[in-house]
Amino acid sequence: MTRRLTVPDPEAMHDLGLRIGRMVRAGDLVVLTGPLGAGKTTLTRGIGEGLGVRGPITSPTFVLARTHPSLVGGAPLVHVDAYRLGSPAELDDLDLDFESSVVVVEWGAGMVDGIADSVLEIRIDRGPDDTRSVELAGSGPRWVGRTDP
Ligand SMILES: Nc1ncnc2c1ncn2[C@@H]1O[C@H](COP(=O)(O)OP(=O)(O)OP(=O)(O)O)[C@@H](O)[C@H]1O
Ligand SMILES: [Mg+2]
Repeated sequence: MTRRLTVPDPEAMHDLGLRIGRMVRAGDLVVLTGPLGAGKTTLTRGIGEGLGVRGPITSPTFVLARTHPSLVGGAPLVHVDAYRLGSPAELDDLDLDFESSVVVVEWGAGMVDGIADSVLEIRIDRGPDDTRSVELAGSGPRWVGRTDP
């Protein structure tokens, strides 16, 4: 699954997250990459709403990972800010419950190597004005035959 979208505003970013949140399931790993203020947390908020987890989803400034339990009997969302993590080993050290959660890692590029065999990589880039260009690429066995958000 590879797809590129233009996201005109924050509401559309939230809405894209909502659709992703309705699609992902326990065991899925989502890695978000993009510059400061790209919209990674905005997208994650939408994913949380789509999953039906308890908020609020904020930028995890003082914690590296925060778990948001499901309000609808589904998978929890584990929201990781890898900005201050130095290596995949440090991410591994957090002992996250990858199997029964949906894990979303901001600044996760290069941080999940060797941790999971399947990943949904989402790259956000700034476009003209406030638009963002978003590229979604699912790789590994978990993403074979999955439908687009
Ligand atoms: N098209 C857009 N999509 C997403 N956010 C947008 C867009 N246009 C403007 N914004 C604004 O950009 C900001 C994005 O902030 P957000 O915290 O989601 O980014 P981030 O990538 O998580 O930042 P950080 O790198 O600090 O973690 C918000 O203030 C949001 O309103
Ligand atoms: Mg953020």
